Amino acid sequence: MSIQASNINKFYGHNQVLHDVSFTCSTGDTLVLLGPSGAGKSSLLRVLNLLENATDGELTIADNMFDFSKPIAEQKGLALRRKVGMVFQQYNLWPHKTVIENLIEAPIKVLGVAKTVAKQQALDILTQLQLADKAEAWPLQLSGGQQQRVAIARALMMKPDVLLFDEPTAALDPEITSQIVTIIKDLSGTGITQVVVTHEVDFAKKIASHILYMENGRIVEHGSHASFTTPKTPQFAEYLNH
Ligand SMILES: Nc1ncnc2c1ncn2[C@@H]1O[C@H](COP(=O)(O)OP(=O)(O)O)[C@@H](O)[C@H]1O
Ligand SMILES: [Mg+2]
Repeated sequence: MSIQASNINKFYGHNQVLHDVSFTCSTGDTLVLLGPSGAGKSSLLRVLNLLENATDGELTIADNMFDFSKPIAEQKGLALRRKVGMVFQQYNLWPHKTVIENLIEAPIKVLGVAKTVAKQQALDILTQLQLADKAEAWPLQLSGGQQQRVAIARALMMKPDVLLFDEPTAALDPEITSQIVTIIKDLSGTGITQVVVTHEVDFAKKIASHILYMENGRIVEHGSHASFTTPKTPQFAEYLNH
């Protein structure tokens, strides 16, 4: 099991945004989180790599166990983020660093990888993602789709066990979205576990091995890809029809 969440609650002040969230995700699965805006998808994703602490509940991810009812040492969050990568909707690349500098920064500083080794790894990953010719480019010289692929490349440099994506195609046109589909499918073939937040059903159908459908901070449906054709709940059926 790659991810096991048990009874996770999350409050922002008095506002409860996650209610008793429990689910499991097996190694190598691509789990898509679907639901209307405000459902708590991004909040849950941020809890999964400890960018946010839940109020209580337990989480096991990439062989690390956290009990949110107790204080969690900052170090444990940092250690976890070496194994659980995140790709944001706003690519969050450093604009003053070239593509390759963006890629090698964390492996060198966080993992202590030698610069020459990191550069070779970066070129290999850029080649895989068809970006080899962009190694020396500045992020702002790239299209949105290219920046998103660089952001994925940068996350892959850490060789994560789990990769989280928050609305990775939200700002992209359909042709570029299909490139992201290909990348996610190729990655799933490597055994990495992926959790992808989206509100685009067509995109979700193409990549999901499993789905989690949320409303108002609660899991409404958790199923395999078959949930797209035979939803188990009227709420998810309604969502698919809207
Ligand atoms: N940093 C924050 N501080 C306070 N409230 C937040 C914060 N982030 C999200 N929320 C609230 O949590 C709820 C769920 O938001 P979010 O997880 O972003 O949903 P989704 O990604 O499904 O659109 C919303 O009511 C939102 O206003
Ligand atoms: Mg969101």
